[in-house]
Amino acid sequence: MVVLGIVGSMRKNRCTNTLVNEVITALKERNPRATEKIIHTADMGIQPCRVICSSYCIQHPYCCSIDDEMADVLASMTEADALVIGTPLYFRAPPAQFQAFAERLISMFFFQESKGSGNSRSPLTGKPCGLIGVAEYSNPQRILEYLHDFCTVLGMHPVLLERFPYLGVAAQGEIEMDTTFQPLERAKDLAAAISASL
Ligand SMILES: Cc1cc2nc3c(=O)[nH]c(=O)nc-3n(C[C@H](O)[C@H](O)[C@H](O)COP(=O)(O)O)c2cc1C
Repeated sequence: MVVLGIVGSMRKNRCTNTLVNEVITALKERNPRATEKIIHTADMGIQPCRVICSSYCIQHPYCCSIDDEMADVLASMTEADALVIGTPLYFRAPPAQFQAFAERLISMFFFQESKGSGNSRSPLTGKPCGLIGVAEYSNPQRILEYLHDFCTVLGMHPVLLERFPYLGVAAQGEIEMDTTFQPLERAKDLAAAISASL
């Protein structure tokens, strides 16, 4: 089993990365033969969607005419058995590099599914995906809602928790001190839920 972690933070060793790795570590405890791969969107030179080339997306299912690392990222997502995606809130939205990543995928899927031949199937259909949202003074729930929508548009299967905040792991402020969202405990719950969905 391959688990792909996608970290949307610009700070590669801070809260978002910690929580993505907490979930993956707990998943590996349940599935000792699992291997992991981590993608930091901060390391990628992913460009925003140019939109004017949408005819390319329509004629080439789930492909993009921009020659950057996005095709490799989509290939890694397709190969993974499960994904763990986390992003923080920076200046009231996910970091721009993460938004470029999400925008490029959503545009490929949107143009194919709204105007394509209808014969192609999403390479990510049903892929279990655990979600993590991190903020400080804002409510991290809004990031989970953003990520849930992102996964839904891509045809993935966002894995829910049976406990608050339900859509995934949320953290507000210092993760060890967060008694409201209890991110470290919920990370274990999310790993269990992903494992059960495989
Ligand atoms: C540049 C920057 C902008 C931020 N903007 C917000 C914000 O708009 N709302 C919020 O709740 N927290 C904001 N924060 C706090 C971060 O969400 C919080 O520090 C979080 O832990 C960042 O994730 P990271 O540790 O993975 O980088 C901001 C932090 C930084 C560094």
